[in-house]
Amino acid sequence: MLVLKKGGCCMNAGIIGMGRYVPEKIVKNIDFEKTLDTTDEWIRSRTGIEARHFATEDENTSHMAIQATEKAIENAGITPDQIGLIVVATVTPDRAFPSVACQLTEHLGIQCAAMDVSAACSGFIYGLVTAKQFIEMNSYEYVLVVGVEKLSKITDWNDRNTAILFGDGACAAIVSKVSQGRGILSFELGADGSGGKHLLLNDENHIAMNGREVFKFAVRQMGESAISVLEKAGLQKEDCDFLIPHQANIRIMEAARERLDLPVEKMSKTVHKYGNTSAASIGISLVEELENGKIKDDDVLVLVGFGGGLTWGAVTIRWGK
Ligand code: UT7
Repeated sequence: MLVLKKGGCCMNAGIIGMGRYVPEKIVKNIDFEKTLDTTDEWIRSRTGIEARHFATEDENTSHMAIQATEKAIENAGITPDQIGLIVVATVTPDRAFPSVACQLTEHLGIQCAAMDVSAACSGFIYGLVTAKQFIEMNSYEYVLVVGVEKLSKITDWNDRNTAILFGDGACAAIVSKVSQGRGILSFELGADGSGGKHLLLNDENHIAMNGREVFKFAVRQMGESAISVLEKAGLQKEDCDFLIPHQANIRIMEAARERLDLPVEKMSKTVHKYGNTSAASIGISLVEELENGKIKDDDVLVLVGFGGGLTWGAVTIRWGK
């Protein structure tokens, strides 16, 4: 008889603790009316965004990553020295090197494997899937995955197409083995560089975007990836209890929700408060839904994102340790 126990061959990796951090400073849509040819009404109706948080000049990406990480470690009930690998998803590291992941080892007073991944807004999903591989291969017992961005430092404040969209923030998750049947059940990762020209960091170090092209790609990809990961997990759309989409634009998120035939209350929405925080957005939303008591053990969650690259990624998770 096959006996499965914690640490056995067939256990999935799952999230066992999380944290998030958003800077204090809030900028409302109306604040942009003073500097750009835009209105609160346009921003709300075209994007669903009402406000976003910006880090101060002294508050770096690594500072935000530390705040979210400390909460995740406490929430998971582990000690920093138990972490075997740190994966930080960001396109706005303090500097190209040392990586934010290396900076975290210093802050935590540990030595372990550490790397940043660059997959734009899909980065947190890329991080979770990377963690899953190392955990399920028994390479590490605990992996820290962080999604963090200080997009305010690469925003062109004169470009109304992009300036109104983004915000700063961080999320962190501890990934480890969880009980049989729970955890990350399936995933999909993808990239298509032919669309890279539609969303990039230009020579002036600013975000440049062809919004309409990214919008079309996102609407198609989010729905397809969500359905695909459910199928890979042997599930159907009726089995999905909660959708946590990348918080880019409420119209894109709604398209994904409709593709899954989910009622409004089963989709996480934080875009109105934080704007698009890129690699941090999915994790920040997940923490908020957990804090709001919306997610119960054994719920089936679909996390799905897209971003510059162009990249995309999705996971199905059966929640619980
Ligand atoms: O994490 C991934 C990051 N990127 C995204 O998620 C972006 C995906 N794309 C979008 O969310 C939408 O395309 C936007 C919100 C960027 C734009 O919305 P849209 O409904 O696709 O507008 P549009 O680009 O088709 O532009 C419609 C009009 C244009 O004016 P004309 O050419 O019709 O006269 C724009 O110049 O709206 C104008 N416009 C604005 N007007 C007021 C663009 N930005 C603004 C603005 N305020 N901030």
